[in-house]
Amino acid sequence: MKQTKDAVDKEQSAPECCPDTKQNGDVQMGKLQGKRAFITGAGRGIGKDIAAKMASEGAVVAIADIDGDLAKSAAGEILGAVAFTVDVSNRKAVTAAIDSFAADGGLDILVNNAVYFNYAPLVEMTEEIVDKMLNVGIKGTIWSTQAATPHIAAQGGGTMINLSSIAVSVGIARAAVYTSIKGAVDAFTRQQADELGPLKIRVNALAPGPIVTPGASSVINAENWEKRKNMSPLGRLVTGEEIGAAAVFLASEDGRGITGVTLKLDSGLTISGPK
Ligand SMILES: NC(=O)c1ccc[n+]([C@@H]2O[C@H](COP(=O)([O-])OP(=O)(O)OC[C@H]3O[C@@H](n4cnc5c(N)ncnc54)[C@H](O)[C@@H]3O)[C@@H](O)[C@H]2O)c1
Repeated sequence: MKQTKDAVDKEQSAPECCPDTKQNGDVQMGKLQGKRAFITGAGRGIGKDIAAKMASEGAVVAIADIDGDLAKSAAGEILGAVAFTVDVSNRKAVTAAIDSFAADGGLDILVNNAVYFNYAPLVEMTEEIVDKMLNVGIKGTIWSTQAATPHIAAQGGGTMINLSSIAVSVGIARAAVYTSIKGAVDAFTRQQADELGPLKIRVNALAPGPIVTPGASSVINAENWEKRKNMSPLGRLVTGEEIGAAAVFLASEDGRGITGVTLKLDSGLTISGPK
């Protein structure tokens, strides 16, 4: 698998939005000032929103995606970002990409976000589709984590954030393979939090409720988006930007006491009872 690094006509300087801005004479530092984050599947959707939010708090972000055009386009919108065209299920390729990003100034944060969505009744799932889902969702998370661990440890510690889903806790039609992968991500998160704690690496998961993204919209139709919205006590869906804010919280000093958790962000969908 091809793996290239593209410095997308950007300086590796503080992003334009928030950090280092002077307000009333005070210099405001971003919560992730000086940090470097590698985010998989960040060419679009939630990964891109996490990247934008982390960059707005001062982080230099690597937008890693199997779709090189998406990666470059997303990186072009985020000051300081670099694009990597990489398939996370390819151990050699993702290791080379993470090594290359870390060689430019270290690595503090890994976000395992890439996914291959497919919903179907289990009896209709082909071996090819199941392999692809497992390779991206589970192996991809394992390979990226392996590759990132020595680099984050070399910084004296840092954070990993894995994308889970509330689908682990509720019945979702035709989603047995997808939800099983996310259940595995939760277990992996807890195990790695325990294993990597002595290296001062915190490992947590974010479990979003349904969010309108290109991937999720390929498996959820308009009627079912509306149903999901109406089921939540807040009567709204969460947004990618809100997931980005939670990722910043977990990755920043504010989250220093938190490891091994899966944090749900779902407008209360999973605690909702009959109306
Ligand atoms: N959208 C939701 O409703 C929702 C809810 C809960 C959890 N999540 C989780 O959030 C994460 C992001 O979801 P999304 O909705 O933004 O998905 P999406 O499909 O819109 O975006 C996924 C990105 O991953 C990239 N990708 C796919 N295979 C890859 C590979 N092998 N290597 C590198 N990149 C690859 C795609 O090109 C795409 O840019 C996923 O882990 C998903 O399970 C999403």
